[in-house]
Amino acid sequence: MQINNNPNSELDSSIVQVPDLVQVPEDMVNFAQQFQEIMMMYTCAIREVKTKLEVLNDELSVRNKRNPIELIKSRVKKPMSIVEKLNRKGFQITLESMINNLDDVAGIRVICSFLDDIYEVADMLVRQDDIKVVAIKDYIKNPKENGYRSYHMIIEIPVFFSDKKQSMRVEVQIRTMAMDFWASLEHQLKYKSVFDYSSEIGRQLKECADVIASTDSKMLGIRKSIENKGIELKK
Ligand code: GTP
Ligand code: MG
Repeated sequence: MQINNNPNSELDSSIVQVPDLVQVPEDMVNFAQQFQEIMMMYTCAIREVKTKLEVLNDELSVRNKRNPIELIKSRVKKPMSIVEKLNRKGFQITLESMINNLDDVAGIRVICSFLDDIYEVADMLVRQDDIKVVAIKDYIKNPKENGYRSYHMIIEIPVFFSDKKQSMRVEVQIRTMAMDFWASLEHQLKYKSVFDYSSEIGRQLKECADVIASTDSKMLGIRKSIENKGIELKK
């Protein structure tokens, strides 16, 4: 399993470091400090959830003799994306509004090997008694019209700081490598061109998503046949 994106690197201390000669209004400095502190809290929440996922992966790898998780990616939302999303949804552009209205400031993407790994990882995560599930969207059982598939959860996790315990929201997206391949390319294509999903391009993309979904099911079937023969899989 690869773990990338060191959470520490997401903390940008330069936000509140201003050259001495520059006069910065006090409220602006206060805002920057508060923003930095909140982003640090989201980064810590990501770290907590990531650790839980790593523990589960280690345990399952010993118990089932294979790794259900291929890769974990994470990010905290960039300031401009936060402002853009608040604006698009008609919310006030304040820190309080960000905390109350955005569920995906902290985001984790878990890439699994097989379809059933997704549900096993998700179930094991939400069974932990310090995790509260806020919302689940199963775009695998109910794919989006364009063919997008993924299992989405918004969870809340307590993070212990020096003087308080803070409950933090994290968006967790769980998908197979195949689903991730499609979603990544579709995301790139969406940026390069605005297209209609009822167009020929949209139809072809949906077709690719369906082929990928059927390949995921076939690969799971193959794994199960191998397991049924009692053959051990390579870790
Ligand atoms: P927003 O959070 O406002 O985007 O809407 P929502 O809360 O209904 O979000 P949803 O759970 O549907 O999707 C959230 C995230 O899933 C997005 O930010 C993307 O990362 C991913 N996602 C959802 N739909 C698509 C899609 O059609 N294509 C790709 N590539 N990613 C998607
Ligand atoms: Mg969302």
